[in-house]
Amino acid sequence: MSAHRRLVAQTSTAVDTQALAESLTAVVRAGDLLVLAGEMGAGKTAFAQGFARGLGIPGRVTSPTFTIVAEHTGGRLAMHHLDVYRLEHLREVADLGLAEMLDEEAVMLVEWGDAVLPALPDQYLEVRISFGEGDDDRILELRPSGGSWPARERLLGEVIGPWRAEDDEEGERC
Ligand SMILES: Nc1ncnc2c1ncn2[C@@H]1O[C@H](COP(=O)(O)OP(=O)(O)OP(=O)(O)O)[C@@H](O)[C@H]1O
Ligand SMILES: [Mg+2]
Repeated sequence: MSAHRRLVAQTSTAVDTQALAESLTAVVRAGDLLVLAGEMGAGKTAFAQGFARGLGIPGRVTSPTFTIVAEHTGGRLAMHHLDVYRLEHLREVADLGLAEMLDEEAVMLVEWGDAVLPALPDQYLEVRISFGEGDDDRILELRPSGGSWPARERLLGEVIGPWRAEDDEEGERC
């Protein structure tokens, strides 16, 4: 097994993060899962907004913190947007039936998804957003995991080109 690759990008405005997310939709396919990780206010919802725009979804995407699940249609693919922050037990996530929701015409973005990985399908792209030096600086780390994600790594790198920072290799080699 080779080391896991981590693609790194930097943005300095919310608009920038949205534009990066919009570009990423060039690489997504029906059935894809994106796990959005990062502290409160990091920009997970901002990312989802740009992503929706890239899919051609009309209308506003807001935070599904209280509704847990929002479904957005009208684009190239439907987008299920979840925020599992308020769920206290893995069981509650399992009860949402995410695997069934992820069908041939939809993609799924899960805010705080990293906290509930055992209840999620095991093929996903993790997007981890962290705070940079300036107030509006953000670092986005993309980790392709499982299924066809590793094979799409080069393409991922290309579409985030304008925001690309230095990449890292990490993880154990065996
Ligand atoms: N580079 C940036 N990328 C994304 N958001 C930014 C950036 N710079 C500033 N912001 C601001 O940071 C905030 C991000 O809020 P957002 O709701 O997207 O975060 P979140 O990660 O979804 O938080 P929560 O965990 O509460 O759901 C917004 O107010 C946005 O305008
Ligand atoms: Mg949010």
